[in-house]
Amino acid sequence: MAIIGNAKYQARIKRHLAKYPTKRSAVMPLLYIAQEEYGWVNQAGINEVAQLLDLDPTQVKSIAGFYTMYSEKPKGKYWLQVCTDLPCALQGADEFHAWLKEELGVQEGGTSADGMFTVEHVMCLAACDKAPMLQCNFHYVENLDKDSMRALLAKWRVDGAGAANGSA
Ligand code: FES
Repeated sequence: MAIIGNAKYQARIKRHLAKYPTKRSAVMPLLYIAQEEYGWVNQAGINEVAQLLDLDPTQVKSIAGFYTMYSEKPKGKYWLQVCTDLPCALQGADEFHAWLKEELGVQEGGTSADGMFTVEHVMCLAACDKAPMLQCNFHYVENLDKDSMRALLAKWRVDGAGAANGSA
């Protein structure tokens, strides 16, 4: 597993590098590729992105650490980020988030025992009128309740048996 030299990513890397006047500006899209490859932004991915962009790995790591869309630890196949910011909280998002963690037997940021789901809360995802909502591997799922969420978890458990990390 690697990004550099992996045929799967070469066209995308080339396209991202061509978009910017300086290579370093492509750090965020390349971090997405690293996360896709490894399931999280690990040191190997950071080193490869740094090498591709002629940056120091600590510079790349500091960027990855700043944004919530990059995970700095292994996560489940389905990364569930529940918005609990104020407008969503006023529509029951806190209770929904707490229930979801209980349903999956995880603490904040934890991954279910079957390795399928990681749950964490995030700030506003700009879907405030559709709470409770979450993003699952960057795809929005809105207007959730316990029944619809249970149905989704059941579906994802089946689908996830063959899915790669970071893809929904
Ligand atoms: Fe939750 Fe905006 S406050 S999406």
